[in-house]
Amino acid sequence: MKEKLNKLLWGAASSSFQAEGMWQQAGQGPSVIELDQPDNIPAFKQGADFYHHYEEDIKLMKQAGLTAFRFSISWPRVLPDGTGKVNEDGINFYHNIIKTLKKYDIEPIITIYHFDYPLALIKKYGGWVNRQSISDYLSYCQLLFTQFGGDVKYWITINEQDHVVRIPTRLGFKDHDFNKHMQDCYQANHNMSVASALAIKLCHDLLPQAKIGPALSYQPYYAASNYKKDIDAAKMADLLSQRYILDLQCKGKYSKEFKDYLKMHGVKLEIPADDLKILQANQPDFLGVNYYSSNIVSNLPANEKQGIIEGSPIPKKEYGLYEIKNDPKLPTTKWGWTVDPKGLRVALTNLYQTYHLPILICENGYGDEDEINDQQINDDKRISYLKAHLKELLNAIHAGVPVLGYCIWSFTDLVSGHNGNNKRYGLVYVDNQMKRIPKKSFKFYQDFIKQVNGDV
Ligand code: BG6
Repeated sequence: MKEKLNKLLWGAASSSFQAEGMWQQAGQGPSVIELDQPDNIPAFKQGADFYHHYEEDIKLMKQAGLTAFRFSISWPRVLPDGTGKVNEDGINFYHNIIKTLKKYDIEPIITIYHFDYPLALIKKYGGWVNRQSISDYLSYCQLLFTQFGGDVKYWITINEQDHVVRIPTRLGFKDHDFNKHMQDCYQANHNMSVASALAIKLCHDLLPQAKIGPALSYQPYYAASNYKKDIDAAKMADLLSQRYILDLQCKGKYSKEFKDYLKMHGVKLEIPADDLKILQANQPDFLGVNYYSSNIVSNLPANEKQGIIEGSPIPKKEYGLYEIKNDPKLPTTKWGWTVDPKGLRVALTNLYQTYHLPILICENGYGDEDEINDQQINDDKRISYLKAHLKELLNAIHAGVPVLGYCIWSFTDLVSGHNGNNKRYGLVYVDNQMKRIPKKSFKFYQDFIKQVNGDV
């Protein structure tokens, strides 16, 4: 077991628009975040100012004992119009990050696209909804593989496609009404999946040593009771939240249940003849998993609202099919996310049994407000969260799930994807002046890594 753990990547994760700051500066073009998160733009303008603090942050990562750092490249920072003219300042910025990580023996894990899709492509042709998006994504991948491939072994094609597809504003629509945009959202999903498969092919052709896969937000959906109607509802919630994408990307197929579902809603996808062959032939090397919490699911009678989907930003119910809720027996964060460490083991085991791929945990963490007193941050709740989840991770590994690594979300505090500056996840506190102060959880992770690596 010790040998196995020694080989794992022990890291942390971040994303460009949440961490970098320098919003639309140094040549960066606008992104869809303007439409998705208009209220949080002032916070994103500064982020955690990673743009200017990356050296200091990477030194701190070394001090914590991290052996990997997952970060995303901002597509509009390197290609301000999404395609065409390259912004050399952006390219140099990412070269410098990779060089610094290498200097400290920290493995870079690059997310190619983490939510901040170039606004220019949405204005030009509607973004992912249009098939042109596939070739533009591939040209962007080609640029990254050529520029950074010599130093980067791990690549994530797309972060949380399951969220992008079900949050219409992340695709560039002006509202969250999934009922209205369903046809376009599922077409975007198809296009993104083909783009991801072709990126896997390109990566394998250009960088035979590299490993590449998607990262999904995977959560277990437990049935609220043993009644068949709740068990069926849970299966449906699982299918419609995540499994339809995994089936497509890891098996190259649309399941019968999902095809029936699309038909029921009158969704007709444009699927050129070769697409499924491309998906079958180019499967991921691993599955990236972002795990935070779990849900319970019960049947939701149709009443007079058959087929209507509700919940924002992510659908939580569909009349006639399912309703997703929190398990009242589990504690929650201040933002109502359940804390369910066993769910991590369940997620890993389910995924491995179904898709037989190694797993890289790309995100796992605890959001809190974190008080600072005398320059100390005693984030004990985060420590218990991490401790319990790491225990379940080790249990899953022990039970035979092949795990490549584990990344905590996040290393420093950064701007939350939905809740602005006050929802902190970091092992390192970032104050208003952008000063970095390691929290108690920093020491916890440092000790954990030392222990698994046999250094104590
Ligand atoms: C994941 C995203 O959904 O969860 C991250 O990949 C995000 O970008 C993280 O920050 C936590 O979500 P939030 O909304 O609490 O920041």
